[in-house]
Amino acid sequence: MVRIDQNRCVGCGLCAEDCIAANIIIQNNKAVIQRPCLECGHCAAVCPQQAVSLEDYDMADMEPFSIALEPEELLRSIKSRRSIRRYQPRKIEAEKLQRLVQAGRYTATAKNTQSCRFVLVQEQLDTFKHMIWQQVQKAAETGTVPDGVPSYMVEQYKRFVALRQKEPPVDYLFRNAPAVLFIAANTPVDAALAAQNIELMAIAQGLGALYNGFLNCTIGLDPTLKQWLGLEDNASYVCMLLGYPDVHYTSTAPRKPADVVWR
Ligand SMILES: Cc1cc2nc3c(=O)[nH]c(=O)nc-3n(C[C@H](O)[C@H](O)[C@H](O)COP(=O)(O)O)c2cc1C
Repeated sequence: MVRIDQNRCVGCGLCAEDCIAANIIIQNNKAVIQRPCLECGHCAAVCPQQAVSLEDYDMADMEPFSIALEPEELLRSIKSRRSIRRYQPRKIEAEKLQRLVQAGRYTATAKNTQSCRFVLVQEQLDTFKHMIWQQVQKAAETGTVPDGVPSYMVEQYKRFVALRQKEPPVDYLFRNAPAVLFIAANTPVDAALAAQNIELMAIAQGLGALYNGFLNCTIGLDPTLKQWLGLEDNASYVCMLLGYPDVHYTSTAPRKPADVVWR
């Protein structure tokens, strides 16, 4: 619920103007909240008097407004982003992981549900890899996958197992990345948007990422995998490998022309 500090409010009406739900009116020179809302926080963000607070939120968490993005540099960075499939054997520092989570947390969500769950596996990655490979091996041997995992994955699993038996072994699922992130959410779009911000934050911190559709479906092989991740009741829509790139690109990659309709 949104609260207005009557001592601070000067009745300027900025909160009412910016309220998506027309949920704020000005009465006797004070903002008045009409009913519960989706708590988007615009009223608090726009208030010059810091008169607005939201119950259940840490208002001290708010920071002064600042967008410092140079358009051409941003575009060049987006163009230079690459899927990273080779990683240095180096862990990601805790403060960098924290920034990745913050980049996801501040992403837009439909109806402001803020429902994303971020599962970051680094410390116990070896345990997780072992569990995953056990299930992949089983699927490759039996030639079956449970409902929810696409049947074409059986052939992929056979290939992944063979690659892992090569000398030197190729881990097609984890690619030696030191960390894996799963993003569960109410909707695939919420998870995907958070993922894109996280990938950009990864790049800004000298890290790289790979969206890993194969690994994301692989956690459907056995309920113990989702349980272990804390995702037994959540749908994971994104899986990303994360780490320091062990590859250097000298230019951007070519792209098809944009399919765009101008009116
Ligand atoms: C949803 C999604 C799933 C992906 N899954 C995989 C994957 O399982 N394995 C892989 O090597 N690349 C995967 N990719 C990476 C794409 O192959 C890659 O983005 C594309 O080839 C373009 O290369 P770029 O990202 O370097 O521009 C995935 C990308 C997306 C967006």
